This record gives sequence, structure tokens and C-alpha cells, in this order.
Amino acid sequence: MEDILSYTIGDKKYEVSVKDCPPFDYGKEVRLSREDTDIVYSQPWYDEGHTSAKFLSEEEFASLKQGLTQSVAKIIRNELGIEVPADFSLERYHDVVTSREDHFKVVGKTRDLFAEDFNFPVKQILPKFEKILGFALTDINPEDGKELHIIVRINRPGSNDYNPPHKDVYERVDEADYIPPFVNLWIPIAGVTENSSLPIAPGSHKFTENKVLRTHNGAVVEGNRYRVRMIKEWGGSSQLERAKVDYGEVLFFSGHLIHGLAVNAEPDTTRVALEFRLFKKD
Ligand SMILES: [Fe+2]
Repeated sequence: MEDILSYTIGDKKYEVSVKDCPPFDYGKEVRLSREDTDIVYSQPWYDEGHTSAKFLSEEEFASLKQGLTQSVAKIIRNELGIEVPADFSLERYHDVVTSREDHFKVVGKTRDLFAEDFNFPVKQILPKFEKILGFALTDINPEDGKELHIIVRINRPGSNDYNPPHKDVYERVDEADYIPPFVNLWIPIAGVTENSSLPIAPGSHKFTENKVLRTHNGAVVEGNRYRVRMIKEWGGSSQLERAKVDYGEVLFFSGHLIHGLAVNAEPDTTRVALEFRLFKKD
């Protein structure tokens, strides 16, 4: 059965079709984000569930962006065997990688990039994030002892390669009745504007689960299967806002905050952002 779900991002309406998707259900009358389960509970911005903070100087940001540009250019050359122009920029990525098939070959590799490959030594940068949040962080997942992955998200203009609206904590909640103690970080690198920034639902982490209508397994949207649980509405709304975050800043948000449907609505600019999680260190 096909169903059309509608969302609003800012003042723009978006519709997505879901077919053969797991059923949508409301949960119990419990709030998952609490003092003992949400590591950002004591932050001054907790009620909103997100904040943006400067952590790189102009020079540091330029160096990060340049390193990433070179890494992506190298992957395009190696994976697609095509010439990359000397003046290649991440914003013009879609001029070089023109088909969906080629794009998936490239992002298959950017997923495996280590931060050191593009000049972003997470361990050296951790103290900056710790200073902003006021507690110790680690890039090791306490559940399995594995090191975190930094995801380089590349979204071509008008493409639909993004996750549906979701909360990051749900997968482990459903699989193991476990709420992982992490904070999400989203760092804009290129093409991030009020038409392409990450959509978030401020305050949505505070709803009890009987106000959240969602799947309890990976969603299927526009024929693509996702790992994330898809949320249809929260507190009777399906309204998202584009996060306000500048270059050189990081967007921190609760692992319980609803976000996603990151349509790149810029007509002719590729969006690139780094995305990862950090855990609270005991
Ligand atoms: Fe997410």
C-alpha cells in the first residue's frame, strides 16, 4: 500500500511516498530524554535540543575544507577513472559526478574515510568540544568499544539521498531497550544555506512517546530502505526548521531530537557536511 506523507520545512511543503514500509505506531506514555538518559540535559540550550558553536578559526576551516576537497577529488579519480578539473570544488561536485550510479560509487568510499585523511584529527579537536559542553567526551562507543565513524554527507542539488525524519536513539531503543549516551554533531563544509541546512524539530526530544507516530523498524521511502525509524508526526505536527549554523561552527543536537529529510533545495550547489556522534566519558 502506498501512502503520501507531508512535512513542512520552514514555509515549504514536502511530500514523500512510502510503500511496503513497516507500520507506524504511537509508543508508550514515557519520555526518553531525561536527566539520566540525555547527556545534553544540563546544557543551557536543552529546551530547544540544539545549539551552534564556533570551534574553528577561518584558517582552520579553510584547511579542513581544502583537505576534504582533495580527498573527494582523489576518490572520484580512483573510483570513476575520470579527469577532475584543477579548480574542482565541493559546491560543483554534481558537474563532475553526474549520474546516481557514479555518486553511489563515490559516497561508498567517502563513508570509509578516516578523519585524518582530510585533516580533521578528531582526538585533537575533542578538547574544543569538551570546553563548549563542559564535560569529557570520547569517540569510543561504550557499548561495543568501537571507534566512531565520521560520515561525509554529500548531497547533490535536488537529489533525495537523505534520511527520513528520525531520532538517532531509536535503533538501539528498539533493538536492545538501550538509550545510547551520545550527542550528535553536524559540521557544514560547503553549500549549506537556508535552503539546504539540516532540518530539525526544536523541542521535539521532550515529547512522550505516545505523541510520536513512527515505524519500529527500518523505513522504506521512495523505494529506498533505511536503517532509521521514520517519524510521521510528533505532537500533531510535522514541521521542521533548517538549522542555523555557519562555516567554522558545529551544530550540536540531542540524540533524541527529531531531524532529517535534508532535501538540498539549492538549485545548483552540492551540499557537504560532516556528521558524527560523541559519547559522554565517565
Ligand atoms: Fe540522524
